[in-house]
Amino acid sequence: MKQVAILVSGGGSNMVKLVESMTGDHPARPCLVFSNDPEAGALERAKSLGVATAAVDHRPFGKDRAAFEAHIDKHLVDAGVEIICLAGFMRVLTPGFMEKWAGKMLNIHPSLLPKYKGLHTHARALDAGDAEAGCTVHEATAELDGGPILCQARVPILSDDTTDTLAARVLVKEHIIYPATLRRFAAGDRARIDHTG
Ligand code: GRF
Repeated sequence: MKQVAILVSGGGSNMVKLVESMTGDHPARPCLVFSNDPEAGALERAKSLGVATAAVDHRPFGKDRAAFEAHIDKHLVDAGVEIICLAGFMRVLTPGFMEKWAGKMLNIHPSLLPKYKGLHTHARALDAGDAEAGCTVHEATAELDGGPILCQARVPILSDDTTDTLAARVLVKEHIIYPATLRRFAAGDRARIDHTG
């Protein structure tokens, strides 16, 4: 059984789907939900699912990302973490941290990477007049929103879409492809298999 940590900053809907998926013959189990925001709604949701939580506020560390990450790393090591899932974790991680956990970290990003790395993906897709949008699960590397793609799912962009309606349509797909990709990844499968349907 691979021990999985999920790193979150917000509401944690992807975290909930990941935790709920890790039952039965799934090759992984959730051992920790960690947040950089002690007020993140995801922490209460994780507790109610029976998952251990930890939070370290990044703000007192200012620009010293490495000092903040030393705390994250200690929580991960103490919990025996073998796989990290970034799920709406809104802090950029340093190359040193990424290299330490290389090959063990997944991220979900709400765009069809390599398009629209970074923030405001839905607004950028709408502004560009794109016909479709989507989401990507990829191995996280030192390059922001880079790393090998493991799965993508596509959705149409409708003529009356707003960022909220588009985000909601993409989130439905996030909730499908992240648990499915984690399951394969935990079993050692790093092939790219895109989601259709
Ligand atoms: C998701 O859209 C994820 O792709 C993005 O942040 C959002 C997190 O949502 N990086 P939630 O906290 O999982 O509900």
